[in-house]
Amino acid sequence: MAEIKNIAVFTSGGDAPGMNAAIRAVVRTGIYHGLNVFGIRRGYDGLVQGDICPMDAKSVANIIQRGGTILKTARSEEFRTPEGRKKAFENLQHHGINGLIAIGGDGTFTGASRFMEEYDLPIIGIPGTIDNDLVGTDFTIGYDTAVNTAIDAVDKIRDTAESHDRLFVVEVMGRDSGLIALRTGISTGAEAVLIPEIKVDYEAMMDRLDRTRKNKSSRIIIVAEGDDAGGGFAVADRIKARFPHYDVRISILGHIQRGGSPTCQDRVLASRLGVGAVEGLLAGRQGEMAGSVHGQVAFTPFKNAIKHIGTINENLVRIVEILSL
Ligand code: F6P
Repeated sequence: MAEIKNIAVFTSGGDAPGMNAAIRAVVRTGIYHGLNVFGIRRGYDGLVQGDICPMDAKSVANIIQRGGTILKTARSEEFRTPEGRKKAFENLQHHGINGLIAIGGDGTFTGASRFMEEYDLPIIGIPGTIDNDLVGTDFTIGYDTAVNTAIDAVDKIRDTAESHDRLFVVEVMGRDSGLIALRTGISTGAEAVLIPEIKVDYEAMMDRLDRTRKNKSSRIIIVAEGDDAGGGFAVADRIKARFPHYDVRISILGHIQRGGSPTCQDRVLASRLGVGAVEGLLAGRQGEMAGSVHGQVAFTPFKNAIKHIGTINENLVRIVEILSL
């Protein structure tokens, strides 16, 4: 493999707070090691269109605290085609780029794997998604911020719920993953948490809600958007059908969970993984995601990283039940 002299970084898939901190870390680590660093705008779409620009230390100044991604992100139909990937590779060759850092989630790494099967190009991934659903890292960049945003919102909802003796169904993000819901639920003292990974026993949940009613004036049910029932509105309908006398309200938190200034944890994680990814690439690694496992940077092949974490720590689910008496 040719010596790596020029690398490029891009963000892809849903944005996540801390992506900018990761971009900054990649650019500055590359420069530190004497590389030329390029930024690709709008993910794989920008790669296909040749939207590539040189980056220097100054171009990433004052971004560590900013949400979103300065490189932008997009979905690309063209990159899914062999012709699109050929154009993408030619654009990289044009700039002499022979190493890539891809920041994103499972879709990003699936695209990177495909690209590497066809072209001789080392790619290292950095996990950037609020969902925390990748194998090979204890936390993904953006998860901690998203959960803290959700907690902040639910605490406010609790205030008004308490004043009015209401039951609130709060829907949080997580199309395939209940990790945001579970952590938010434990942190806000939710009465129940409904997630895609676990089949809900509605009867048992309703009985528990009614049984514990005497202990509380407000109740909060956290629902991951991908739960079995079909999200917040569907869950609220079921509760209203069973308990028409309950005063039920619904709140969908939506994309506020994807924005905002990253927490300390996400900034530090992004900085560590940005450095780790570039140094891994220079050490000859490829086709792997740089994650954080027990506080150490660890590399996991893309094909393993993209397997969704299908199992949930049952103990956390129990904790919600025990503490919601
Ligand atoms: O992948 C993160 C995520 O926030 C999911 O939890 C959510 O379902 C999805 O993105 C929504 O993404 P978009 O609005 O970009 O389609």
